[in-house]
Amino acid sequence: MKIRESVENDKKSIRKVHQNTFDQSEGDVVSQLAIDLLEDETALPILSLVAEQDNEIIGNIIFSSVNIEGAGGVSAYILAPLAVTKDTQKNGIGTLLINKGLETLKEQGAEVVLVYGDPNYYMRTGFKAGHNLKPPHKLKYPEEAWMAQELVEGILTKTQGTVRCALSLNSPEYW
Ligand SMILES: CC(C)(COP(=O)(O)OP(=O)(O)OC[C@H]1O[C@@H](n2cnc3c(N)ncnc32)[C@H](O)[C@@H]1OP(=O)(O)O)[C@@H](O)C(=O)NCCC(=O)NCCS
Repeated sequence: MKIRESVENDKKSIRKVHQNTFDQSEGDVVSQLAIDLLEDETALPILSLVAEQDNEIIGNIIFSSVNIEGAGGVSAYILAPLAVTKDTQKNGIGTLLINKGLETLKEQGAEVVLVYGDPNYYMRTGFKAGHNLKPPHKLKYPEEAWMAQELVEGILTKTQGTVRCALSLNSPEYW
């Protein structure tokens, strides 16, 4: 299994991974979100990684840029979506995709990464709720699901503001 940045030719497989991993209706929405983000200029810079085994894509993670309104030039990203195919789950691939993404973003100078998801899963890779960054929309899920991680020590204590994400992720249905 190897992890690499996705290329244009991977789009069909990326759509399939999200479509087949989530339930049907969520799969339709999330797979479209993944493709929309990859084609969205307002998401740039973007980091999309795939996990590949025997020439087949079995996982995808996307980090797209966000602005933190009121926080000057803090470099921030949001993690969404993430999927690992059902028959390859629980082998650490999701964790590897997250950690490789965080490491790459850190090397590129990113300071903060946000995620809106299951705290039980994302806390395992260092995300925490209780920061001072407001979500772009009213949240459907409890505040604990709105988490952040600093890639530069101390940045979250000094940073507050409202997160503004890429247009394709900005639809209230995602929040
Ligand atoms: C969530 C997901 C990406 C995890 O991928 P994975 O490769 O199986 O993850 P890992 O192998 O790194 O970690 C698996 C561990 O996380 C746990 N886990 C998985 N989903 C979890 C969740 N929602 N809450 C808590 N723990 C979770 C597993 O039970 C397992 O625990 P264990 O190591 O103690 O056995 C994968 O299950 C998936 O694609 N799920 C459907 C889509 C989804 O929910 N995506 C995330 C939201 S965008």
